[in-house]
Amino acid sequence: METTSNSKVKVCNISELQPGQTKSLKVKDKDIAIFNVDAKLYAIDNMCIHAGAPLSEGFIDVEKCQVTCNWHSWVFDLSTGKCVSHPRQDVFSGTYPVQVVGDEVFVEVK
Ligand code: FES
Repeated sequence: METTSNSKVKVCNISELQPGQTKSLKVKDKDIAIFNVDAKLYAIDNMCIHAGAPLSEGFIDVEKCQVTCNWHSWVFDLSTGKCVSHPRQDVFSGTYPVQVVGDEVFVEVK
């Protein structure tokens, strides 16, 4: 893993994260899940905010761009981190900007 300026960390090459694939990894002190949903990349905290399940092992809904935790079925919007299945409107998982430069995938973690 290679750190560049302004908090961007190279996490993999795009060939390692094809559409439909998910990768979990530690970036700095964060446990992050990166999802390739229909060729768009999203990064959120891997640990579910409910009880700690790895969201990287959840079910992906490509059309809604959501992941469903496989322990108790909380559903998270991958672009915003919002828990859309929770009755409260202010329940979010952390999200991180993802950038592809050439063949390299970078995640920004501050
Ligand atoms: S641990 Fe994810 S919904 Fe309970």
